[in-house]
Amino acid sequence: MPKKIRWGILGPGGIAHKFATGLKAVPDAKISAVGSRDLQRANTFADTFDVPHRHGSYIELVDNPEIDVIYVATPHPFHKECAMLCLEAGKAVLCEKPFTVDAEQAEELIACARERKQFLMEAMWTRFLPVIVKVREWLAEGAIGEPRLLTADHGSRKTLSPETLEGRLFNPKLGGGGLLDVGVYTVALAYMVFGAPSKLTSLAHIGVTNVDEQASILLGYDSGQIANLFSAIRTETSKEARIIGTKGAIHIPEFWQATSATLIRTGKDPVHIEMPFIANGHENQAIEVINCIREGKLESHVMPLDESLSIMKTMDTVREQCGLEYPPFDSVL
Ligand SMILES: NC(=O)c1ccc[n+]([C@@H]2O[C@H](COP(=O)([O-])OP(=O)(O)OC[C@H]3O[C@@H](n4cnc5c(N)ncnc54)[C@H](OP(=O)(O)O)[C@@H]3O)[C@@H](O)[C@H]2O)c1
Repeated sequence: MPKKIRWGILGPGGIAHKFATGLKAVPDAKISAVGSRDLQRANTFADTFDVPHRHGSYIELVDNPEIDVIYVATPHPFHKECAMLCLEAGKAVLCEKPFTVDAEQAEELIACARERKQFLMEAMWTRFLPVIVKVREWLAEGAIGEPRLLTADHGSRKTLSPETLEGRLFNPKLGGGGLLDVGVYTVALAYMVFGAPSKLTSLAHIGVTNVDEQASILLGYDSGQIANLFSAIRTETSKEARIIGTKGAIHIPEFWQATSATLIRTGKDPVHIEMPFIANGHENQAIEVINCIREGKLESHVMPLDESLSIMKTMDTVREQCGLEYPPFDSVL
């Protein structure tokens, strides 16, 4: 048996706790270290997940030789600098979504990984869920004919309170708003079904804190396919995706964390699948990273770097059309 792949966790916040729970279910993985800007927070996380190495700074974490790959889980504006810090220290990186805040940062990050010959992947976990893998198989075998239309939405009604105002979602200085937080799931799904769009029209409502509270994106493709996408942080929606083709449709409830889907075909009984998670769904992307590292790959063909870059270009165009501008971001290092 080869030794387990040793993970470092950078930024032990909300999603890092979920990811670590998923990682604990992967027999081939070990959480070796955690790095926080505050040693006490690193200790608390390490006690929860039984992590041997605890670091009170990100720089200390990336210098730890007992790590093969680092999961970057800071708010979006810090993804690029934290991921580059890891790559430059010779570590592979799984970087939370959105990959970066814009395409310029994405280009810089990808160039760094390629120059250093280090593995890098965006943590677009939805793409690795067993149900979504099955949906890709249905599409590839032509189960619904030619896909023509995608509708997908991801909206939640978050309250505007002193507490939430302190968090990243409503804070432009932390890349807040629905587009980069959850809109990116809908856009990534459209890329999975149709690829990069050739036309784009979008509209957003910018709220009192100067971030997008809800937004609609229409993507168009050369053969007439359309993706109709919606994202929000102040409006609750069903979070469904429907892929409609010339011979049927695929319905995916809670598509971003899907555990079920239904294939509907003209003249045939519907096929309903239920595929529960082993832990919480975050384990699947970790398994992909481990497999890539073991095979000496520098990127995943399921979530390739050029696609993460193209998605960021699309998000840049959406923000430009919507008049959403972020102030200059601080550095976290
Ligand atoms: N895949 C998913 O399902 C999913 C779900 C939620 C979020 N995400 C993504 O994961 C990233 C983190 O989201 P989150 O909700 O976990 O964020 P969060 O809890 O607000 O922050 C994560 C951690 O980042 C560190 N951090 C560094 N600089 C910070 C700053 N200036 N302000 C706040 N925290 C800072 C903090 O750790 P220390 O200070 O202890 O180092 C914090 O605990 C986002 O990019 C988000 O899009 C993904």
